[in-house]
Amino acid sequence: MKIDQRIIIALDTQCEKELNVLIKSLKGHAHYVKVGMELFYTFGPSIVSRLKNEGFKVFLDLKIHDIPNTARKSCKTITKLGADIINVHSSGGIEMMKAAKKGVDEALEENNNLTPPLLIAVTQLTSNDQEMIEKDLLINKPIHEVVTHYAKNASLAGFDGVVSSPLEVKLIKKTVHNKFICITPGIRPESSQKQDQKRVTTPKEAFLNGSDFIVIGRAITQAKDPSKAFKDIIKELDL
Ligand code: C5P
Repeated sequence: MKIDQRIIIALDTQCEKELNVLIKSLKGHAHYVKVGMELFYTFGPSIVSRLKNEGFKVFLDLKIHDIPNTARKSCKTITKLGADIINVHSSGGIEMMKAAKKGVDEALEENNNLTPPLLIAVTQLTSNDQEMIEKDLLINKPIHEVVTHYAKNASLAGFDGVVSSPLEVKLIKKTVHNKFICITPGIRPESSQKQDQKRVTTPKEAFLNGSDFIVIGRAITQAKDPSKAFKDIIKELDL
């Protein structure tokens, strides 16, 4: 897969005008976009088919985390929306993740025109760090151990991969297997601010660490010219 097809742009906005500007600027240049909660709750489920009709592949980042039965039904519903990647929180546990996988399979059985989405588990958010997981979540293990444990659980539940920090990719691939997909947000080009993200790298470092896909939001969407910012990142990659 070409490098530009492995960059997912997070369209995090609640403003129709801003969304239209982003679509216009990125159409024909960017391959993958991410629909997060902000976009989904503002514009509703039809946002997925709208973006697909504009020619984008869609990562539907709704981070489902609930009792297994609800996770199964939610995953069944969102698979039917036709997203290319969907996700749940691995902290929901193996039973919940197995239920989520069952929901995806049920949707595919009922509608054989659907392409199976990549089923992905969020490990630890890239805005969490060691201090936060110890103080707020009472998790007294090194964050990389928590992340690899969650990744193993996701693999046991039949998932295709995880969302993690680019700093954890090598360890995840070593612990699970090399083909286990790692999608990494927490990406900041040299010139950008970290903002609320903590476990970050540059786009180039992320790919060199083995990330299959990188997720970039504000560094592109808040730029004066998003399409130029996207192309500059590809140039900076030089891979
Ligand atoms: O603007 P920025 O590049 O920080 O955006 C990152 C995007 O990736 C956001 O949409 C955020 O919700 C998402 N994300 C993340 N960390 C995760 C999972 C998703 O930052 N572990």
